[in-house]
Amino acid sequence: MEPQALTVVHLTADDYEAVRAIWEAAGLPVKPGGRDSREQFVRQMAGDLQAVIGVKQGGELVGVVLTTHDGRKGWINRLAVRPEHRRKGIARRLIDEAERTLRAQGMQIIAALIEDGNAASLALFEQAGYSDFRGIHYLTKRDSDAV
Ligand SMILES: CC(C)(COP(=O)(O)OP(=O)(O)OC[C@H]1O[C@@H](n2cnc3c(N)ncnc32)[C@H](O)[C@@H]1OP(=O)(O)O)[C@@H](O)C(=O)NCCC(=O)NCCS
Repeated sequence: MEPQALTVVHLTADDYEAVRAIWEAAGLPVKPGGRDSREQFVRQMAGDLQAVIGVKQGGELVGVVLTTHDGRKGWINRLAVRPEHRRKGIARRLIDEAERTLRAQGMQIIAALIEDGNAASLALFEQAGYSDFRGIHYLTKRDSDAV
């Protein structure tokens, strides 16, 4: 039987549970008491700073990505594909739509932060035309460990 077609969709705050389930299935760190709570997700989705894009196969959400911009630069965040659906080009579809979304918002530079040792993600972004900008330290100040 032919595999069902993949469709790229823009998601809303109502898709919170499904999005979070994919992040968890993909092993991404989720902060349910902080920036990944439903309340924060709804807040982040108000306005045009954040978009959440998904890929569905036969009605099932199989991958997601979150774009944000700060007015100067676009960011690709929280890219995740269900383990059983990997290596089918789903992440590339998500990156392509994330780029289209950010360019439509006026962003001419698009960036992603990738943890050391995440070879799959590094290979993916390099294959998508991103270059590794070395020599930057990522410093953060957090209001608590939960955020
Ligand atoms: C990284 C991740 C999103 C890739 O999703 P995916 O849908 O399997 O990726 P794609 O099928 O679109 O891969 C496109 C290309 O990226 C590269 N790539 C993807 N996964 C790879 C892997 N495990 N090892 C080496 N290269 C890989 C390959 O060049 C691949 O092309 P190919 O399959 O023709 O060789 C997925 O492995 C994942 O969800 N990982 C856990 C969450 C995560 O680390 N997210 C990134 C946070 S920055």
